[in-house]
Amino acid sequence: MLNWDSSDNEASGTPAVRPASPALDALNRVGDQEAAKARQATADDTPATLRAKAALNQLDIAEGLAELEGASARVAVDEKRMINCRADLNQLVPFKYDWAWQKYLDGCANHWMPQEINMTADIALWKSPEGLTDDERRIVMRNLGFFSTADSLVANNLVLAVYRLITNPECRQYILRQAFEEAIHTHAYQYCIESLGMDEGEIFNMYHEIPSVAKKATWGLKYTRSISDPTFETGTVENDKELLKNLIAYYCVLEGIFFYCGFTQILSMGRRNKMNGVAEQFQYILRDESMHLNFGIDVINQIKLENPHLWDAELKDEAAQMILQGTQLEIEYARDTMPRGVLGMNAAMMEDYLKFIANRRLSQIGLKEEYPGTTNPFPWMSEIMDLKKEKNFFETRVIEYQTGGALSWD
Ligand SMILES: [Fe+2]
Ligand SMILES: [Fe+2]
Repeated sequence: MLNWDSSDNEASGTPAVRPASPALDALNRVGDQEAAKARQATADDTPATLRAKAALNQLDIAEGLAELEGASARVAVDEKRMINCRADLNQLVPFKYDWAWQKYLDGCANHWMPQEINMTADIALWKSPEGLTDDERRIVMRNLGFFSTADSLVANNLVLAVYRLITNPECRQYILRQAFEEAIHTHAYQYCIESLGMDEGEIFNMYHEIPSVAKKATWGLKYTRSISDPTFETGTVENDKELLKNLIAYYCVLEGIFFYCGFTQILSMGRRNKMNGVAEQFQYILRDESMHLNFGIDVINQIKLENPHLWDAELKDEAAQMILQGTQLEIEYARDTMPRGVLGMNAAMMEDYLKFIANRRLSQIGLKEEYPGTTNPFPWMSEIMDLKKEKNFFETRVIEYQTGGALSWD
């Protein structure tokens, strides 16, 4: 990891500028002259290429760049802020939030694609009349139904609402990576649905038709509505709080609670050697999701740190209520997907697990735990997503992605 402290001018926080040399100045002048010559009309020009050159004569650099977000100067690290930043947002460095850049690198290092996972055994098991019990089939169907649209909701919220309002380039870099991962997750669910020959209309419409799925989607969408309005701007206490609530709704509740019953059920199926391909897809997704969650928690806490006036008693109470409502909806989803014991678990155990998760989410953003004394009935879930292992997750993979050093230029 590069350390920008060593290359910065410590007094001003701006990078040291290389002293000009006469030879470089001369080269710069020649470059300018050559570029201007290329704009001149030649005998080879057609009326269309002449028009294109003439149109570019109207291009005013100063005017064009003035439209960019933020000030038009070299960025000092002290000017960078999570929200309402006035520094140029196209200058990635110097980094202020090293953790955001590191998460971007870790996300890229964990790249995977759904087609790499062998689904042959799953297809045979799914199509065999004795393959799975009715309860197990219901779990697979419901979860593909919920997740096949949930990740689109998350991606849309990121791209259409959050990205514009987070005014920090290293966080935006991670958000772009996360948005692509959400596309891969939706791809993975589609790939499972297609491989198993399921009724696509039925699965993709569950968020309209199945109440326990629809309630979760509706709850999340409520928090996107105002901030995805193109005229919405942060900068007032009310609107900054609205953005924080959106981040809590999506990172802490949607990705941090609503995914957990389904992940546990499908991974439990894999632990029993059933639907191993689907379970492997979910395992890769869970790894990505725990990174999304941790990124979101860091963003929320950083915004609180930089804007302590937002995190007042009213917002704290509302945030806790959001997490408790989310937990309640997920408990109801557990009851609906698991009306009786299956896969060595039941809805009561899942309820304990969800309360355990909710306590974590509350304490991660500095709120008090609301389910005291709850313990984790599924410690194996923590082992699967233990973040300390995230960098080594793909050590055993067969496929290697080309990296910069391995590219061939011919
Ligand atoms: Fe996702
Ligand atoms: Fe996610």
